[in-house]
Amino acid sequence: MFTVSICSLKGGVGKTSVTLGLASAALHQGVNALVIDLDPQGDATLGLLGEPGSSPDVAEILSSPRTETVDRAIRPVPWSEGASSHLDLIAGTHRSGLVDFPAPTPKDVRKLREALDKRTHHYDIVLIDCPPSLNGLTQMALAASDRALVVCEPGFFAVTAADRALKLAAEMREDDLAPRLQPLGLVVNRYRPRSVEHQYRLAELRDLFGPLVLEPVIEERVGLQQAQGGAIPLHSYEGASGKRLTEDFDALLKTVMDSRQNS
Ligand SMILES: Nc1ncnc2c1ncn2[C@@H]1O[C@H](COP(=O)(O)OP(=O)(O)OP(=O)(O)O)[C@@H](O)[C@H]1O
Ligand SMILES: [Mg+2]
Repeated sequence: MFTVSICSLKGGVGKTSVTLGLASAALHQGVNALVIDLDPQGDATLGLLGEPGSSPDVAEILSSPRTETVDRAIRPVPWSEGASSHLDLIAGTHRSGLVDFPAPTPKDVRKLREALDKRTHHYDIVLIDCPPSLNGLTQMALAASDRALVVCEPGFFAVTAADRALKLAAEMREDDLAPRLQPLGLVVNRYRPRSVEHQYRLAELRDLFGPLVLEPVIEERVGLQQAQGGAIPLHSYEGASGKRLTEDFDALLKTVMDSRQNS
């Protein structure tokens, strides 16, 4: 199983949007995917189901990591009705916040990996939407992951936040807490090509992080918010900015899937 964490220290930069965009691309490309909503805010759950999460949720599998609980927590996403591949979800609710410790023990950190090892369903890709911090829940996600995608906006404070997330991933791998983890890179989101400030910040990120700045950069487009508001996949959104967004997320999914060769 190939597992990817979508994370960032900063809030509101687009982790959930990138998760949903990749999930939509996966469905479009016939890639079987599972989304795990590890964020107590439950935004990915709301975006995928059109309603808040309920039990059994991810908190339940963290407190009782048995095959039966994990399989029961996996539910189909309505987006995948009639599609050639399936898209499933392990829902998030506020209850996962109860285990988001700032200084988790190694036992805490391994909980999600141990739970996922017990599932019986198979997927081509598992996408984990993380909360906006590098605390316990994000560390659990990284420990269970093969790759980390760090989302950032092209702004002044992005560099430090991105650097801290990449360093955490590297440290967890060194300490053997995240044995399979490779930092895949930075997804720059909400880019406005005509903004001189954004051009400057993107160039700065490329200078500092080189090839870790992934292509494509995701532009700010109103279609993304409209698709989310309707709880529909980007690939079903028919507004003017939909085509460009779907192309970008198709390309980003390809980058992610191709990275499997580099393990
Ligand atoms: N490329 C984009 N174009 C337009 N709007 C965007 C884009 N990316 C994100 N947004 C909007 O920005 C807001 C924050 O995005 P999102 O919820 O994905 O961020 P997040 O990092 O998951 O936030 P949190 O840290 O709270 O989990 C949302 O309203 C979303 O629709
Ligand atoms: Mg989010």
